[in-house]
Amino acid sequence: MHEDHDDLQPDDPLIPDDAQSIEDSPFNLLSRREFIAGTSAVGAGLLASQWFGPLDRAFAEDAGSAAGGAPTGAETVGLTLKINGKDQTLQVDPRTTLLDALRERLQLTGTKKGCDHGQCGSCTVLVNGRRVNSCLALALQHEGDEITTIEGLAQGEELHPVQAAFIKHDGFQCGYCTPGQICSAVACIQEGHATNDAEIREWMSGNLCRCGAYNGIVAAVREAAGQMKA
Ligand code: FES
Ligand code: FES
Repeated sequence: MHEDHDDLQPDDPLIPDDAQSIEDSPFNLLSRREFIAGTSAVGAGLLASQWFGPLDRAFAEDAGSAAGGAPTGAETVGLTLKINGKDQTLQVDPRTTLLDALRERLQLTGTKKGCDHGQCGSCTVLVNGRRVNSCLALALQHEGDEITTIEGLAQGEELHPVQAAFIKHDGFQCGYCTPGQICSAVACIQEGHATNDAEIREWMSGNLCRCGAYNGIVAAVREAAGQMKA
């Protein structure tokens, strides 16, 4: 008996009457193992196309490869990101995070990598005015979006009010968390979540500071909120 048909019995209703052996059954056209491998690859491809939109081709190829297809090698895709008002065209592995695209490919190293797991907020950038942990976002997801990093906040030599307030109120010590804190503060104020200290602490709580410069940060956000409102 074929090893892939070991749960079929000679009197199985799925075996035609005129079959001479288990190998004549419909299952012999495609072994169970081949069938499962094939459906897994198709299923993975469909899920990838539903969930990831522009990533579907790359993920479907990955799924096919994982199911035993020929290795596809290093796949890259072209994309254009709009960063600080400028279009930046680059070729990336589809798994590249927005953070790595910024730092490693575009040399925008103001955005910091802390935990790389969405826990510290040091990688915060603004995407269409909303705060995003760029370590958790794929670069490909943000084609066409307006991305603002710490490098894009000042107007020429003039600092953004939040940047100026951080300097005035000693809102940093080592400065590693500061670009993320400032980007987050800009959105926090624009969201209307900076009306008092308790609210600022709550809505800035996704940005950690290992130096503990929180008092200065809160004072800076409070003052910048007043200025931006005015
Ligand atoms: S580096 Fe992204 S949240 Fe920590
Ligand atoms: S100023 Fe050092 S981590 Fe915040």
